Amino acid sequence: MNLEKPFFVLAPMEDVTDFVFREIVSKYLPKPSALFTEFTNVEALNSKGFDKTIQRFKFSKIQKPIVAQIWGIKPENYYKASKLIESLGFNGVDINMGCPDRKVMKIGACSALIENKNLAKEIIAATKEGVKNIPVSVKTRIGTKEIVTQDWISFLLEQKISTLTVHGRLAKDLSKFPANWSEIKKAVGIRDKISPNTIIIGNGDVSSYNDGLQKARDYKVDGLMIGRGIFSNPWAFEKDKKNHSIKERVELAIKHVNLFKKIYGESKSDILKKFLKMYIKDFPDASELRNLLMGGKTTHQMIEVLKNFKMKEDQEASLSQLV
Ligand SMILES: Cc1cc2nc3c(=O)[nH]c(=O)nc-3n(C[C@H](O)[C@H](O)[C@H](O)COP(=O)(O)O)c2cc1C
Repeated sequence: MNLEKPFFVLAPMEDVTDFVFREIVSKYLPKPSALFTEFTNVEALNSKGFDKTIQRFKFSKIQKPIVAQIWGIKPENYYKASKLIESLGFNGVDINMGCPDRKVMKIGACSALIENKNLAKEIIAATKEGVKNIPVSVKTRIGTKEIVTQDWISFLLEQKISTLTVHGRLAKDLSKFPANWSEIKKAVGIRDKISPNTIIIGNGDVSSYNDGLQKARDYKVDGLMIGRGIFSNPWAFEKDKKNHSIKERVELAIKHVNLFKKIYGESKSDILKKFLKMYIKDFPDASELRNLLMGGKTTHQMIEVLKNFKMKEDQEASLSQLV
């Protein structure tokens, strides 16, 4: 993947960057330079749960370039998973060494690997061995309980990975405190000495395209990753900031619910509420509409509420033109 710098990517987010949202982002929102899947467990891909787990790797052409993110503890499963990922047509494989979830860390995966270099090394080597032509990257944090940027980032860069995403927080801090961008800048300096060809993506509290540009200038990263910024502003990747109309927001919500229904049916419809909160905001009647939507139990009810609102808005707009 040869992306013009500084480039912008959408962070991998469980129950957020699924097939449906990636499709919405690719078709109807300002598209970032690359997308990631949710993190997918390599052990599950190598178990009876394969059929269910592989669904997480469904993508469409317009979602490309797309990187599959994986996690787990067994190097042999990483080898098989990365082979599979390349055969499915992904543009890259990313290893999650940053998830701070307690259950995940307890089994020695994700952020716990920051304290287990031997296994981290084996995992990276096995993942690289599984692919022929696509890059292998790592996403990590600056430590678990204390900052270990110098030691940990140097170690990762010695593994000659193609890209390294540095989330400027400790695992113990989850996302509670502001990201530490001076440590991200430190990682860039380490990269310059150890592995100049590795691309560094900075992650943590990037709120918009312009904020990202400023951070690229200040901290010298090659790319910016936006996560929760998209919750407060679905147009976070927009180069020229515009106002987005109520109609646009409601239509986006309708498109999301419709596609969600098509892909998952009624299952998981609670997940939809997070997206509805994301689209239905920043206009006068937004909270009233959101409350109505939160009461909706089925996707059908949600679509009805949204369509009725849109009709009311359209009528009011045409009446105001007559006055
Ligand atoms: C709901 C949610 C789910 C997440 N799931 C993942 C994941 O599957 N893989 C991963 O590497 N990071 C995951 N993250 C972390 C984000 O990718 C990102 O590193 C973090 O939110 C910091 O970036 P931000 O400050 O821009 O949000 C998740 C974050 C959120 C809020």
